[in-house]
Amino acid sequence: MSLNPSAKPVIALVGAGPGIGEAVARRFVAENFHVALLARTETKLQTMTQGIETDFGPNTAKYYLTDLRHEASVLASFKSIREDSGPVAVLVYNAGARRVNGRSILDTSSEEFENFTKINLFGAFWATKCVLPDMLAGGKGTILFTGATGALRGNAGLSSFAPGKFGLRALCQVITREYSAKGVHAAHVVVDSPVDGKLIGEWSRREWERRGEGGKLEDVDAHLLKPGDLAHMYWFLHVQPRSAWTHEIDVRPQGVSMFSKM
Ligand SMILES: NC(=O)c1ccc[n+]([C@@H]2O[C@H](COP(=O)([O-])OP(=O)(O)OC[C@H]3O[C@@H](n4cnc5c(N)ncnc54)[C@H](OP(=O)(O)O)[C@@H]3O)[C@@H](O)[C@H]2O)c1
Repeated sequence: MSLNPSAKPVIALVGAGPGIGEAVARRFVAENFHVALLARTETKLQTMTQGIETDFGPNTAKYYLTDLRHEASVLASFKSIREDSGPVAVLVYNAGARRVNGRSILDTSSEEFENFTKINLFGAFWATKCVLPDMLAGGKGTILFTGATGALRGNAGLSSFAPGKFGLRALCQVITREYSAKGVHAAHVVVDSPVDGKLIGEWSRREWERRGEGGKLEDVDAHLLKPGDLAHMYWFLHVQPRSAWTHEIDVRPQGVSMFSKM
């Protein structure tokens, strides 16, 4: 039995956590999409799926346990999504992995470099290969990658993060050059500031207190990017008319100077 009986368009949200991932999922479900949520932690995925179905109704969300470091896991999830709900119309690759407090190259193990790069880059390559055939057959599709400041600048301490994010940006440009003429709209979103999610949001607040910048707590929206606000950007990219496609967008809160100094 189809898990998507109304044959709604399907968005695959790869790297579905409670921050940007869930916010983007909810934005598309609010526009009548069915969402497939991919991540590793079942309890978090259950909570997210239940929350979406409570707010938007049954058959709006389904989760797929996936470890993006392993190609077989990615392929298996996308095969199940297709069987359960139909072809993917929108791919959002949102997973990313980095240390909050960076380490020098000499202190970074090869294992960490490989693990993080698989999450930041390889998973996106595998996921893209899974969705392209249906997009090309249908003559349309949207592929959105979540980038970071580290996609544009290799800052100290980020040797296991920035190379993968640079690569993700490059992959997005390759997709555009190979497939945009065939209807696939790919875009890279440079998230150039801390996001107000559980980990980084709470860490940033502690840092403000520590640095005597407590005043920022009175005006959080000027200093931390809200996932729900960012989610509108993803929807905006998806609905752009094809006479005016954006392939990269950068975003930061009002009070944050350009981290990336592009
Ligand atoms: N948060 C920030 O301040 C910030 C700033 C700039 C850019 N970004 C970018 O934003 C994206 C993340 O957004 P977010 O921070 O709001 O996080 P989020 O959407 O709340 O969660 C992302 C999810 O990715 C999943 N993930 C990580 N490794 C995975 C793996 N190996 N296999 C499957 N899933 C995996 C994690 O779930 P599991 O652990 O359950 O697998 C995590 O919950 C990343 O691309 C990051 O580089 C974030």
